[in-house]
Amino acid sequence: MRLGPAGPGHPEEEPTCGPAAMSANPTAIEAHGVYKRFKTGRTHIEVLKRVDFDARHGEVTMVMGPSGSGKSTLVAALSGLLKPDEGQVRALDTDIWGLRSGKLDRFRLDHCGFIFQGFNLFSALTALQQVEIILKHQGHSKSVAREKAALALDEVGLGKRLHQRPAELSGGEKQRVAIARALAKDPRLVFADEPTSALDGENGQIVIRLLQRAAKQHGAAVICVTHDPRLEAYADRIIHLEDGQILEDRRAAEPAQSAADRRPEPALLGA
Ligand SMILES: Nc1ncnc2c1ncn2[C@@H]1O[C@H](COP(=O)(O)OP(=O)(O)OP(=O)(O)O)[C@@H](O)[C@H]1O
Ligand SMILES: [Mg+2]
Repeated sequence: MRLGPAGPGHPEEEPTCGPAAMSANPTAIEAHGVYKRFKTGRTHIEVLKRVDFDARHGEVTMVMGPSGSGKSTLVAALSGLLKPDEGQVRALDTDIWGLRSGKLDRFRLDHCGFIFQGFNLFSALTALQQVEIILKHQGHSKSVAREKAALALDEVGLGKRLHQRPAELSGGEKQRVAIARALAKDPRLVFADEPTSALDGENGQIVIRLLQRAAKQHGAAVICVTHDPRLEAYADRIIHLEDGQILEDRRAAEPAQSAADRRPEPALLGA
């Protein structure tokens, strides 16, 4: 199951070597003019103001910005969870909002891994069953699903916790189960919304390293919303959203590009 950057089934991908090659990674998602507003009482609030966005395979793209700036709404629009009022999202060369709902569900099941704050685990299921159920739903036989699920949990360091239920797991372990569940199917696109916010620093680092590995070893495009500046060290690219607009878009270890709002380069811990 574990593939290199250009694993079988993904012939379009080229291995990357070093920062110079990073920008040559193939595009995974391209969005144009994404606009979303919500009705509140008699008025509307514009949450995404015609956002253009792209993300590449093999890279961790972080979306940062203040609370209420539209980060979760953007990720929902990019991942097929929330239809924008205007704009287009091409993901893996598919116009996802042009798909009928059944096809969109299938697209998400086949290609997208989701990791949210709060884990979203089923309380009655063991760690193994949480992962297995998704793989079975995807069409794998029971025995293959079990084998892949056990491997995915082993990869996140939970090989000895397979038969424990969420109530018997720590917060960090629960989040790792959620990550194993998202990554077990080797998704081409990984969407993480505040995946470390409920975790201490050490567990947060484990989680972000796993996401980084999904990008670097498996060639996934990882889009990660975070408030945590410590995670910048793991990003290839950092997009700063404010009031429904992208204010800054830069590659890690490059100076900020926003002319209007040039900020000092933040310390890139460990980079
Ligand atoms: N279903 C909804 N109906 C009305 N307003 C909404 C809805 N969903 C989000 N909003 C509003 O849209 C704005 C952006 O929300 P969003 O969840 O995208 O922000 P965010 O950047 O993810 O914030 P946070 O960092 O707090 O998670 C907020 O002001 C929010 O109140
Ligand atoms: Mg949010």
